[in-house]
Formats: sequence, structure tokens, C-alpha cells
Amino acid sequence: MKIAIVGTGYVGTALSCGFAKKNHEVVCSDLDKDKIREINNGNLPFFEKDLGNFIKDSVSKGLLRGTTSTVDAVEGADVIFLAVDTPVGKDGEINLESIKEASKDIAKGLENNKSYSVVAVKSTVTPKTTEEVIIPVLEQSGKTLGEEIGVCVNPEFLREGTALNDFLNPDRIVIGELDQKSGDKLEQVYRDFDAPIMRTGLREAELIKCASNSLLATKISFINEIGNLCKKIDIDIYDIVDGVAMDSRIERSFLNSGAGFGGSCFPKDVRALIKNIKDKGEDASILEEVVNTNDRQKTRIVDQLDQEINISDSTVAILGLSFKPGTDDIRNSPAIDIISELKNKGARVKAYDPEAMANMRKEHGSIEYVKNYREALNNCDAALIVTDWPEFNKIDRGDLKSMNNPLIIEGRKLEYDIPDKSRKGITWP
Ligand code: UGA
Repeated sequence: MKIAIVGTGYVGTALSCGFAKKNHEVVCSDLDKDKIREINNGNLPFFEKDLGNFIKDSVSKGLLRGTTSTVDAVEGADVIFLAVDTPVGKDGEINLESIKEASKDIAKGLENNKSYSVVAVKSTVTPKTTEEVIIPVLEQSGKTLGEEIGVCVNPEFLREGTALNDFLNPDRIVIGELDQKSGDKLEQVYRDFDAPIMRTGLREAELIKCASNSLLATKISFINEIGNLCKKIDIDIYDIVDGVAMDSRIERSFLNSGAGFGGSCFPKDVRALIKNIKDKGEDASILEEVVNTNDRQKTRIVDQLDQEINISDSTVAILGLSFKPGTDDIRNSPAIDIISELKNKGARVKAYDPEAMANMRKEHGSIEYVKNYREALNNCDAALIVTDWPEFNKIDRGDLKSMNNPLIIEGRKLEYDIPDKSRKGITWP
């Protein structure tokens, strides 16, 4: 099928590669000329484990190309995925400007389309946004809704760092449909996927996505709250989780306690859902506490360091800057707040991350960046592990010898072999 993908952010690019890998003919569009040039050269505009090889392959086989014109991308497309960003302000209000502008461009492109096409919303939006904001703009194309154009909400559940695998092997495919014709057409795109398909309404699909991300974030804040108790009474939260998750009613995933959640999705989506719930006059106190607990959790590791050394006169190594391993994305990464706190307290910070240093330089330009974790540990008074990159598991006793003070505080659980007296966990002994 011919697929247009509007927006080459993280999700849009991952989808473009994924659908091309499924042998669909994909044209992606973005206003950013540099991103489109990169894509047409077969390069990913960001780092993502495993995706780099697929983009080269798809572009060279002619299955994927980029354009700065959405009208061009939409021409002749069977399905048009709307995958632009939906930033959320401090008050939780979603900024729908990109959605509206992209929908206008899609409407212009649809004017020229001779056959029926479906617009599928991938961007995360709160319930009723498609009905109240997107559809009225699409109707400006002059095409008849339901006859000449169809509309679906088709949320994406892939995670950064494991994008391609998640895209190709989803737990479920949710198709919120304007009508049966729209859903039937979109379902054809997924004909080769081995996953249950749930057909539902537009606003139901929008809320399934918001509720999924918010529930996962809730699991994390919940387990961090229990983890903080574990720390106080000298037990390991991971032992507790193992025992709790043996109950078949409780699922083990997203119960990894640590420095809290970051990224471009959970922090934003939970705030947007809180605002949506409160705007309707309902209570959102559980989700409000999910956010508050997470905000406190992110810098808890600095409070722990404060009890161990005199931070104001110290050099602290930060290992890991991205919000999770496998990506160079630092959006809402706990490392941003941790570095700010350490700087406020007068520490010198040496940071290392295998992929995210260039991005963190834009946020924290004044700290020292080093080439590997060994250099970071050398002559430092303590190290904080903020991202569980697998390479940090190689840290050994020899590395500790190069530190002024052999102390590592772990914000993420690692499996390395160093003496217990040199390591402390954020929510484990
Ligand atoms: C999340 C969802 O997991 C995806 O299903 C969804 O498609 C995506 O948001 C989105 O809305 O686009 P992502 O933010 O890429 O994906 O990454 P996650 O693996 O969910 O991790 C988010 C944060 O939670 C990370 O900072 C991670 O370190 C933290 N986390 C995750 C924990 O602290 N504990 C856990 O047990 C799991």
C-alpha cells in the first residue's frame, strides 16, 4: 500500500522504517529540511539502536523517501499517518498547533486525491481531539467524510531504544474508527502483523493510549514509593518485586525501581490526562501524585550523595545521560535535574554517556564530558549511575582504584561485580 507519514520525529521515523520493512511504499514529510535530507541519504536523524540499518536499506530499495511537502506525500496515499509532536505546557495543556497545521496540509493534499484515503492519528492526544479539532480541518479539503476520506485513531505503543522490535511485534493494534470503512482500510496496512487487533471508537482509542502510558507511569511511581521504604529498612526492592510479581494478577514489567521516569511521553502524557480529567470536573489525585513522586525521585540520589560526601567540594561522575538506554534522547531525563542539583551544590561534574553527550551539552554546557566511563571515574569523589547502559556492567574493582573515593550510587540496577561497601542503591542497600 502507499503510506504517507506526516512528521519525522521519533515515532514518525520509526514508523516509516517499520512500514517500509513490511514492503509498503512510504513517503514521510517534515518541515525540517535537514531531517528530510538525512532520511533521503539513508541516515536516521537521531540515534536508535537497530533502526539505522533499516533506514539505509529501505531508502536504497526505493521503499522510503522523505519530502518537505506534505501535499506531495499525501498524493495517492492509501493511508496517511499523522505523527507530529504534541508538546504539553506546564499546566498540562496540549499544544495542538502542529496537529492543526499538519492537518491543514493533509487537507490540501487530499483535494488532489482521486481515490478513498484514510487519515490515521498516531500523535498522542486526549479524547475527542480527533473529532473536535482534526476532522473539521480535514473537511476543509472539500471531500466527503466517510465517503471520500476515512479517519482512524491508531495509537502507537513502541518504546524508544527498542522501537523496531516493538513496532514489528506489538502486543495489540488499536484501531479507533470513524466508521467500518475507515477501520477496514487501516486494518489492511497491518495484514502481515501477528497481533490482536482491537476495533473501537475514535475517542476510546485516544483514551486507551493516554490511560496505558499513565498506568505504566503509575506502576513506576508506586514501586519507587515502596522502594524508598526498602531503602530505609535496608532491604532490596527487587527482592520485593520478585515476590509480588509471582502473583499472576500482577505483571512484572514496569516495576523496575530507580531514579524515576523520563522521556518525551510519560511526563507529558500524564500531565495532559490530569488536565483533561480535571477540566471535566473530576478528581485526578492519583495521577497528580504519580508526577509529584517522580519529580522527587529524580534527584533523590543527590540527597543520598549528600549524606556520604561533602558535595560542595567534590568531583562527581555522572554515568548515563539519556532517559533510558538505547537512545540519545535526554528529554526529561533525570540526569538533567541531577546535574543541576550538583552544580547548585558546588560540585564539579564529569559526565559520560555512549550516545547522549551531544544533546546534554545543549542543556548543560559548562560541565566536563569525557570519552568513556573510566575517564569519568578517574579522580572523582563519587559516581552516580543514572542510565543502565549495558556497558556499565563492565565496571570492575580496578576502575574503583582510580577514584579518589570508591563510591558508586546506583540510580538504576546493574549487575557488575564490585564490593558491596563501594556501592549503594537508590532503593536497595
Ligand atoms: C513509552 C511507552 O512505554 C510506550 O509504550 C509508548 O509508545 C511511548 O512511551 C510513547 O508514548 O511514545 P518510552 O518513553 O520510549 O515509551 O520508554 P519506556 O521504556 O516506557 O521508559 C520510560 C521511562 O520510564 C524511562 O525513563 C525508564 O527508565 C523509566 N522506567 C521504565 C522505569 O523507571 N522503570 C521501569 O520499570 C520501566
